[in-house]
Amino acid sequence: MSQNQVKTVVFPVAGRGTRFLPATKASPKEMLPIVDKPLIQYAVDEALSAGADTLVFITGSSKRAIEDHFDTNTELESVLQAQGKQELLDTLRGILPSWATCVYIRQPAPLGLGHAVLCARPVVGEAPFMVHLADDLIDAEVPCLKQMVEVHRAHGGSVLGVQNVPPQDTDKYGIVSLAQGASGRVGRMSHIVEKPKPREAPSNLAVVGRYLLSGSIFADLAQIGTGAGGEIQLTDGIARLMRREAVYAFEFEGKRYDCGSKLGYLQATVEYGLRHSSLGADFAAYLKEFVATL
Ligand code: UTP
Repeated sequence: MSQNQVKTVVFPVAGRGTRFLPATKASPKEMLPIVDKPLIQYAVDEALSAGADTLVFITGSSKRAIEDHFDTNTELESVLQAQGKQELLDTLRGILPSWATCVYIRQPAPLGLGHAVLCARPVVGEAPFMVHLADDLIDAEVPCLKQMVEVHRAHGGSVLGVQNVPPQDTDKYGIVSLAQGASGRVGRMSHIVEKPKPREAPSNLAVVGRYLLSGSIFADLAQIGTGAGGEIQLTDGIARLMRREAVYAFEFEGKRYDCGSKLGYLQATVEYGLRHSSLGADFAAYLKEFVATL
């Protein structure tokens, strides 16, 4: 795989988001805000800071709001301009830099994450690319995808963002095992399995929503059938890719919030609220007072 810069990021946003129903009935999970910014905008900001300039969204039904979010809203901008609300106008105009290109591809049905990624093949071609799952929000000094690009530059191959999870949670993730002798934050993988039961899991190292993949994975994704949960699994494509090419697990630095779950979403909301530039101090004062009443 080439060591060149990785310029394309794929955002699969075509899932059903059933854990957030009814909020996600008509509006995408990825548009849920953490304080005042939707999850998908945190995702795009991370991708841009990792050097990406081509953003490929794999969309499904009820996802139009994402296209609208990254498009210009001329009418709203005129109103803000007329009202002299320059700060808000700048915020809107800063959502996406002019040099970034958005591509929207419709996944005909939510057949699984592997199938969603395969839908990006006509745009990505054979080049290495990144995949970002917006509901895994990662707060890090150096954005997680940027850390992964550095690992790719140093080692080549594909790179998966991993994290230790509690043993009882292995059946929620793709779980990896490392080749013998691996130490430190980067290890070559020897095995990957989707959602193993805790007693069958080879480790507690779980893949969370960040991938830097060789373009040759598309050939694998086109070959595999349905796997765990009756879905076409990205994990199964990666397992095939590993037979030919190096795939590395990378324990990134940063804190992950599982915003696909309600508890993780609330935790992120509280912590980002406390750190918010204009709101943080008031919110902290409120929380202290409130917690004292519990
Ligand atoms: P999840 O496993 O979180 O599923 O998908 P989901 O449908 O979004 O949410 P729940 O479990 O029903 O609450 C992981 C990521 O893969 C995308 C989702 O949008 C999410 O970002 N995905 C999943 C697709 O784009 N297409 C699919 O067919 C499946």
